[in-house]
Amino acid sequence: MVDTTRRTFILSGIGLAGSCLLPRALWAAGIGSGPAGKSLLPAHGGESPVAPREQWLLDFDWRFAFGNGDDPTKDFGYGFGQGDFSKTGDFKIATTDFDAAGWRALDLPHDWAVELPPVHDDTGDDDTRLTSHGYKPLGRRYPATSVGWYRRTFEIPASDRGRRIWIEFDGAMRDIVLFVNGCFIGRHDDGYTPFRFDLTDFLNYGGSNVVALRVDASFGDGWFYEGAGIYRHVWLTKMDPVHLGRWESVVRSAVEGDAASLELAGIVENESGHAVQASLEWSITDASGRVIAQATTPAQAVASGASTDCRTTAHIDAPQLWSPDEPHLYTALVKLVVDGATRDAEQFPFGIRTASFDPDRGFFLNGKPLKIQGTCNHQDHAGVGAALPDRLQSFRVGVLQGMGCNAVRTSHNMPTPEWVAACDRMGMMMMCETRHMSSSPSGMQQLETMVKRYRNSPSVILWSIGNEEWRLQKGALEQQGERIGAAMVERCHELDPTRVVSAAVNGNNEQGVSDALDVIGFNYNLKYPDVFHREHPKRAVYGSETSSAIATRGEYATDPKKNTVNSYDGVVEWGETPEQWWSFYGTRDWLAGGFAWTGFDYRGEPTPYGWPSVSSQFGIVDLCGFPKDYYYYYKAWWTKAPSLHVFPHWNWQGREGQEIAVWVYSNLDEVELLLNGKSLGIQQVPRFGHVQWKVAYAPGAIEARGRRDGRTVLVERRETTGAARKLRLTADRPEIDADGQDVAMITVDVLDEHGRPVPTANNKIAFRISGAGKLIGVGNGDPNCHESDKEPRRSLFNGLAQVIVQSATDAGSIRIEAVEESPAAEALTPASLTIATKRAAPRRVVA
Ligand code: GAL
Repeated sequence: MVDTTRRTFILSGIGLAGSCLLPRALWAAGIGSGPAGKSLLPAHGGESPVAPREQWLLDFDWRFAFGNGDDPTKDFGYGFGQGDFSKTGDFKIATTDFDAAGWRALDLPHDWAVELPPVHDDTGDDDTRLTSHGYKPLGRRYPATSVGWYRRTFEIPASDRGRRIWIEFDGAMRDIVLFVNGCFIGRHDDGYTPFRFDLTDFLNYGGSNVVALRVDASFGDGWFYEGAGIYRHVWLTKMDPVHLGRWESVVRSAVEGDAASLELAGIVENESGHAVQASLEWSITDASGRVIAQATTPAQAVASGASTDCRTTAHIDAPQLWSPDEPHLYTALVKLVVDGATRDAEQFPFGIRTASFDPDRGFFLNGKPLKIQGTCNHQDHAGVGAALPDRLQSFRVGVLQGMGCNAVRTSHNMPTPEWVAACDRMGMMMMCETRHMSSSPSGMQQLETMVKRYRNSPSVILWSIGNEEWRLQKGALEQQGERIGAAMVERCHELDPTRVVSAAVNGNNEQGVSDALDVIGFNYNLKYPDVFHREHPKRAVYGSETSSAIATRGEYATDPKKNTVNSYDGVVEWGETPEQWWSFYGTRDWLAGGFAWTGFDYRGEPTPYGWPSVSSQFGIVDLCGFPKDYYYYYKAWWTKAPSLHVFPHWNWQGREGQEIAVWVYSNLDEVELLLNGKSLGIQQVPRFGHVQWKVAYAPGAIEARGRRDGRTVLVERRETTGAARKLRLTADRPEIDADGQDVAMITVDVLDEHGRPVPTANNKIAFRISGAGKLIGVGNGDPNCHESDKEPRRSLFNGLAQVIVQSATDAGSIRIEAVEESPAAEALTPASLTIATKRAAPRRVVA
């Protein structure tokens, strides 16, 4: 019998809603997979099960404990003697006898690094000092906080005997060793690629099973904050022995006039022990669910233990093309049929579009020129580190789209599936980058996994084989670079003939790895692209990494004593201000555009400072997604709607009569600035530039009036506010799903007695969360703040903080209350907010 307690699963409809490229969600009646006597059909809708595949989300109900990288006695005896791997089945932690009662209960995704207080380690150079990792104590010198154990029990029904059962991880940081039911199963040792293990032979059918992982984050893969632990989803996948190959189901489209032809490819793998005749039945539906194309491959023989490639084609009239403005998606359903019975199926979204790079005219999407207005991004966020709930991925895409960003580069690693899914759904183009530039077996495996995993994604317009590998670009390993680059590019072409391949190169692109690239990417170095274009007029060029402007949100002076950078023109010596790089890339038709470093701030790399700075200052928005002033530069020049932004704030008490630099970003013709109603003059706005004044401070208001064709189109004011009086909470959405995963992003700010936000407030606020949800993180975007991301309190930083709350599985409401903690004088008026949580597709089922 099956124990159905706390089982979690995904069904076909939900898999689609989540826009996973992987068919996360198909299971069928017929194979005794569901709990006896219970239907696993979703209560909310009428989706039918289509195939004997189940994919269960295994995120909930894990137990966690720190091990130790040095001392086996503190690492549950791991490595104490010689025994851990000597006999199959002896590994105690992964048996039901082991008592994990003292271990902490948690749900995935989980990043333990974000929970650790920073450590000021001053030994050695930047790397050894933990600077790059944002001073999180990870590494071989921090054995007590660098190893974590995860453990979970799960039931497998007797009726599953005969199926293939896999445990699948979307990613973990970093070296894992996995045991099931006392048996060593396997290892994985990079932090960004998904991995899976076939558990079929090791399971206890009709009873309890135990999985245990040792995750060692002593080594990192990069030079930035990377998190630690199982920071992406985990799945339990059950399949028929005759099943589809992993990530082999591919839809390739070609647009011909007003129609699209589709190449439909899949691989049948036969682990059944006898030969079968198999065919693939494809059906394509549009966004309304209407089937618009179908195709079936002829039945082909698949010998036992073999796999067979099955291909066919289909045709769509008047396809709706995918683009950032209209991200139309279609759904492909592929069924594997043997003797009339469906043995496996996958369902995934795809898009139809053309994308090409032209050496003279830049990037073209669907035959029209489109500048890449891109940003590079790492994957962590305030409050949660690298363990982002799915919804936070779309929140982040939305923040970037707000300034007109139409493309992201997944610097410098294979992204989380839900980030790609959000980009597909919301119309954000992507340059997908692998972590290691190497044609070694592990480098190639990372690359292949990325390309196979995401090649159905319309958002991906470009593969990147790596970033700034100076030894392979020029000098000592330049010739090896040629060979390594060529091998990687060739493999990308084999797996995906529809996309071009590039790399982010911080040199002149004249030798080494660059020779093999389809499209040439320049990191920084504005001195190179013109020369390169002249010398190589047939090669398409774009900016793979630009800018590296730095700013502390809401700060207007660069002060090394406070580790702040002014918000006007901070930039590293190798970089360019937004104005400098966009005036370059935006004015040359032959350049396809580029990717600014970075969209979001991220932990680690706190350039130009070190301790106590723990996060970067490169973001156009801070770690929470609150815009810095640069955001409005991009908004002015990357969006068409009239835009006007004046800064700084106008709270300069004590600086009366002193000159303050006032800047305005706008795409209007001219701007007039007024101080307390008196004009300080009108200035024409230069294309891709800004206007600025020096204003002797007097309390009151500065006002910018933007005109187009002589008419005032927009007016913006910064007023001197009074003292902070009351708290305010604002949620991004009033209602979220009660699925145990959805989140609401809450902005905390304070208002003066006239209801104006106070941009300089730094009060410390305490939060109480009650009802059908919990707090999962707090942040404020201050790169120098060492307050915990997990406790229910946070100081405002220049007027703002962020609280992330996550729903429970019961519908109801979440109440968030905010009060000032230890007020210096009269306390701020508290605030409260209620978020409704609505009954949702059952991502988690408690029977
Ligand atoms: C680049 C590098 C990025 C980041 C950036 C900071 O050279 O590719 O990862 O370190 O510099 O400016």
